[in-house]
Amino acid sequence: MAKVKTLFFCQNCGAQSAKWIGRCPSCGEWNTYVEEVVEKPDTNTAANAWKASTSVGTTTKAAKPKPLGDILYEEESRLNTHDGELNRVLGGGLVPGSLVLIGGEPGIGKSTLMLQIAMQLNGLRILYVSGEESEQQIKMRAERLGRQHPGLYILTETNTQNIFRQIDQLQPNVVVVDSIQTLHSTLVESGAGSVSQVRECTTELLKYAKDTGVPVLLIGHITKDGSIAGPKILEHMVDTVLQFEGDRHLTYRILRTVKNRFGSTSELGIYEMQGAGLRQVSNPSEILLSQRTESLSGMAIGATLEGNRPLLVEVQALVTPSTYGTPQRSATGFDAKRLQMLLAVLEKRSGLRLGQHDVFLNIAGGLRLEDPALDLAVCAAVVSSLNDVPIRNEICLAAEVGLSGEIRAVSRLDQRLSEAEKLGFAEMYISQFNAKGLDLARYGIRVHPSGRLDEVLTGLF
Ligand code: TYD
Ligand code: MG
Repeated sequence: MAKVKTLFFCQNCGAQSAKWIGRCPSCGEWNTYVEEVVEKPDTNTAANAWKASTSVGTTTKAAKPKPLGDILYEEESRLNTHDGELNRVLGGGLVPGSLVLIGGEPGIGKSTLMLQIAMQLNGLRILYVSGEESEQQIKMRAERLGRQHPGLYILTETNTQNIFRQIDQLQPNVVVVDSIQTLHSTLVESGAGSVSQVRECTTELLKYAKDTGVPVLLIGHITKDGSIAGPKILEHMVDTVLQFEGDRHLTYRILRTVKNRFGSTSELGIYEMQGAGLRQVSNPSEILLSQRTESLSGMAIGATLEGNRPLLVEVQALVTPSTYGTPQRSATGFDAKRLQMLLAVLEKRSGLRLGQHDVFLNIAGGLRLEDPALDLAVCAAVVSSLNDVPIRNEICLAAEVGLSGEIRAVSRLDQRLSEAEKLGFAEMYISQFNAKGLDLARYGIRVHPSGRLDEVLTGLF
């Protein structure tokens, strides 16, 4: 008979305790401890799990220290997913035996993306395990995507022991699990989605992936505050964490690398959700700028970098006299606090009367951007709207604005310049500090190095 034991787990960070505590000592959250039954596996039940040893660390062969120089290393052969954007965020393809977690809000398109990827892996046997949808629902989605894949198998099952039994028979080359929160293992008593279940199921899948070299793609839900539901430990256990985000009402989706043991975390993939699935967007600037026809006041183009990709985005501002005492300030896609700061700088350093005006700011295309290089474009858009004077079509901006109204340098200006040039911009406002050491004659774009915000505003209007 297995020994039954209960423990209390923090539902926020996964910390455990023998007794209930009001405030988690590890993450500081209140009222997050929930009692869960932990059944210590005896040998009989454990035999059903992936090759008898999952959560219990059974090391038969003790490891010995090796001099670093003696360790052989070969470049991992990566599996091409036939999706340029996904390959990019993974750092060049899917690494054999890796566990990849894809998180995102409900309805953002995680299942669509995974099914689509699975259907692109020609010549491989794929197992798509779903605990969320029925076979018919998945079939319907596959029809919608309009593709066929003879080697794609669907399994609607949530018990990990049963899943591993099917895996043993099918011997797939890639496994997709939708989603980790629906899985449950018989080795742990508590319900699906609880901390101990999520941890146990991930451990089993991790062990399976490492033992067989089969990559496993896991879908994970995220909580209200945007973190992946379940313990933080889940993110520590997997090799790669990808975040799928975007505004559900708009069509653009961004796949961002949050953690990657096999590549850079500053990579980004961009998709567009269409009637028949997700389309890769290999040149995002073109779409973001495509709706521009003529110069209108309140619009400025910022040359930003998202991950390693240069992106030209349209910053829109609307400045109107406020009807109520306290003026409104609202920002979509841009940090509201940063907007407040920039407005204060414009007021104090450039003498603009913004205190009596409502200011609304929007980044076109539904993107959320944090690059400080957008500062100058934000200031320019605000001033353009306030004075109702448009900025010429062929101008773009890339610089950070400091508290004294000084124009500060930004990273990787050469990439921003090349992208702007490629898209046909003729002039770019940058910081004078960026201009040092840069061969400006190399670019077919006129560069205006500036030291102060006033200089830029005089140049623009
Ligand atoms: P889904 O993949 O189910 O989201 P998640 O798994 O992240 O919860 O997709 C959700 C939305 O995508 C759904 O509202 C419908 C839309 N969609 C399309 O617009 N085009 C398509 O081809 C598909 C399959 C879905
Ligand atoms: Mg889904």
